[in-house]
Amino acid sequence: MRTTVGWRADGPATTLRKASLRRRDLRPGDIAVRVDHCGVCHTDLHAVRAPREAGASVVPGHEFTGVVTETGAGVTRFAAGDPVAVGNIVDACGTCAMCRAGQENFCHEFPTLTYGGTDRHDGSATLGAYSREYVVRDRFAYPLPAGLDPAAAAPLLCAGVTVWEPLSALGVGPGTRVAVAGLGGLGHLAVKLAVALGAETTVITRSAGKAGDARRLGAHDVLISSDPDRTAGSRDRFDVVIDTVSAPHDLAPYLRLVAMDGTLSLVGHLGQVTLQAMDLLVGRKKLSSAGSGGRPGTAALLDFCAAHGVTADVEVLPSARVNEALDRLERNDVRYRFVLDLSDLS
Ligand SMILES: NC(=O)c1ccc[n+]([C@@H]2O[C@H](COP(=O)([O-])OP(=O)(O)OC[C@H]3O[C@@H](n4cnc5c(N)ncnc54)[C@H](OP(=O)(O)O)[C@@H]3O)[C@@H](O)[C@H]2O)c1
Ligand SMILES: [Zn+2]
Ligand SMILES: [Zn+2]
Repeated sequence: MRTTVGWRADGPATTLRKASLRRRDLRPGDIAVRVDHCGVCHTDLHAVRAPREAGASVVPGHEFTGVVTETGAGVTRFAAGDPVAVGNIVDACGTCAMCRAGQENFCHEFPTLTYGGTDRHDGSATLGAYSREYVVRDRFAYPLPAGLDPAAAAPLLCAGVTVWEPLSALGVGPGTRVAVAGLGGLGHLAVKLAVALGAETTVITRSAGKAGDARRLGAHDVLISSDPDRTAGSRDRFDVVIDTVSAPHDLAPYLRLVAMDGTLSLVGHLGQVTLQAMDLLVGRKKLSSAGSGGRPGTAALLDFCAAHGVTADVEVLPSARVNEALDRLERNDVRYRFVLDLSDLS
């Protein structure tokens, strides 16, 4: 085993403390990555704040960039010194229909998550990238395209790919009318990507103060969700609504905005939802969801972002300020993604 340093919440604690962490020795197909930047996803906040048994712990972090420091004997895709990016999946069975289709995120054996998962080979619990080093199977690391800022690119690996996959699967492009609900980490990347794909893009936010930012990000229109006149006037207006809202909420107001045969893609709060079938029936509307991405989709996203200059709007903080980042994320005080600089753990 090798050791590194990271940020961990132990037992019932709802904040992170610096801790020494163990990483596995490299298997033939593994690479070791020096983690330079890791985004702070709302899922990390859910994970840190979730009730935990005494003795259980979590090291969050599942969208990161860094540099390869070592390669296993069988690795040919990477060499020491290569810049890489890793997202929220670090392994999958590789043989099921989903894996064969390049949708490892839907692996029938469930993909191994970057943290809070169980390693397929040794059964250990995976520890996330709020740490200085990560050991990962090379298939689940991606070359970081030249020209993408490593700090601003880190959020592409979870927030970005999570909204990219539904945008691609739903055929968003020129002429598509897209709305993005919730202007946070996922939402602001959904706006940038939809705009770059050529879609007519609208932001739906409960925060009137974000309207200017929404336009700066490229949105053509902004709906303040508390304004009943504007939302009523937008009934049946959008072919695709990407819902990134992080809290439980009623889907009816969002379904009302979906055009006939259009789709509401729920990628934010992933829990039980209630809805009236009539809200789908009237207009033959579709309800869908998505999460993370497969290997081909993730690689395609990185290529697209390199070609179109798309990265996240980030506030970079030394990792020692991670608890402050989580507190501010909880208060919706982020424009639009915190990224931890892990170099203070050296
Ligand atoms: N599907 C997946 O695989 C996947 C991947 C990553 C994250 N997630 C989940 O996606 C959600 C968003 O993550 P994120 O990192 O983008 O979070 P975030 O940066 O906190 O953004 C969430 C946004 O939702 C809106 N919002 C929050 N509470 C709300 C409420 N009570 N009512 C209405 N709007 C509200 C806010 O936007 P406005 O201020 O504009 O209203 C907020 O900025 C989280 O639940 C996260 O766990 C899912
Ligand atoms: Zn995430
Ligand atoms: Zn599989």
